[in-house]
Amino acid sequence: MLTQLDELHTQSLAQLKQAETTAVLETWYKETLGRKGSIYLMTRQIGSLSAAERPLFGQRINKVKKELEAAYENRLAELKASELQAKMEASAIDVTLPGRKQRQGRLHIATQTLRQIYAIWADMGFQVYRSRDVETDEYNFELLNIPQHHPARDMWDTFHTTTPGVILRTHTSPGQIHAMREYYPEPIRVILPGMCYRYEQVTARSELQFHQVEGLAVGKNITMTDLKGTLTDFARRMFGAQRQVRFRANYFPFTEPSAEMDVECIICDGDGCNVCKYTGWVEILGCGMVHPNVLRNGGYDPAIYSGFAFGMGPERIAMLKYRIDDIRYFWGNDLRFLEQF
Ligand code: DAH
Repeated sequence: MLTQLDELHTQSLAQLKQAETTAVLETWYKETLGRKGSIYLMTRQIGSLSAAERPLFGQRINKVKKELEAAYENRLAELKASELQAKMEASAIDVTLPGRKQRQGRLHIATQTLRQIYAIWADMGFQVYRSRDVETDEYNFELLNIPQHHPARDMWDTFHTTTPGVILRTHTSPGQIHAMREYYPEPIRVILPGMCYRYEQVTARSELQFHQVEGLAVGKNITMTDLKGTLTDFARRMFGAQRQVRFRANYFPFTEPSAEMDVECIICDGDGCNVCKYTGWVEILGCGMVHPNVLRNGGYDPAIYSGFAFGMGPERIAMLKYRIDDIRYFWGNDLRFLEQF
């Protein structure tokens, strides 16, 4: 009986080695270790042994069973691996692998708003004119009709550099002089977007850096009606065709007359809310007819030419449109904010 068992052991192991597929292997398992398999049948024969022989035979058959089980598991793992290998070689893509997720970037909300503004002005024939962030006192103030020691300078708290007379621009208006000096005597229709810097306490409403989009039109016979019509059209395109606007007289040294334009509050539709401070209107830009001194400083004779100009804050416009209640979010670099747009 023991020799018979040994024979069965070696024979089964040999068969196992020959099994080339998992299907063959399963049949082997059934026939060898299964409920009616050869090992089982041999176990049944234990009754024909003498009581003295039984324990030894029992031990041996258990050992053989364990070894065969282990050999089966090994062979199964081998075959599974080689079958997977063969499958992968047969087809070029392994569709069982999870895909790699593409991280999608996006434009900053300020850039998105700027591009929307560019598109509207481009439609109306205005080109983008780039101008420098670092300016001289002369361009930022004097040529814009704001002399040294003029009280109007209080409107712009300025960052000075260590070079006397060189500052960070406090508004995009100095670009008007650069554009005029470059284009003279051609008519001008440009917008001048860019970052501005002010030495101010940072609060929910004011940052020390922010964008502005300046606009300038210079030519013959340009009047206040052109300014009103053009800016009204801009507001309708930006905020919706039904949107009302109003102009309020104001003071800027580089325009005469000067005004501020309000749009009907886009949050409450003019009914009054905390964004418009219950007036129904929100201010979005300053504007006016270019001051004769400024035209002259740009090279244009105010007796022949006239023009209008305006300056708006795209972050303020985005804050209104999306109800952002704190301007510090824009440059705070918090993804929880940025990913909302
Ligand atoms: N430069 C002004 C500011 O920073 C904004 C402004 C007002 C620009 C009127 C203009 C203008 O061109 O005509 O507050």
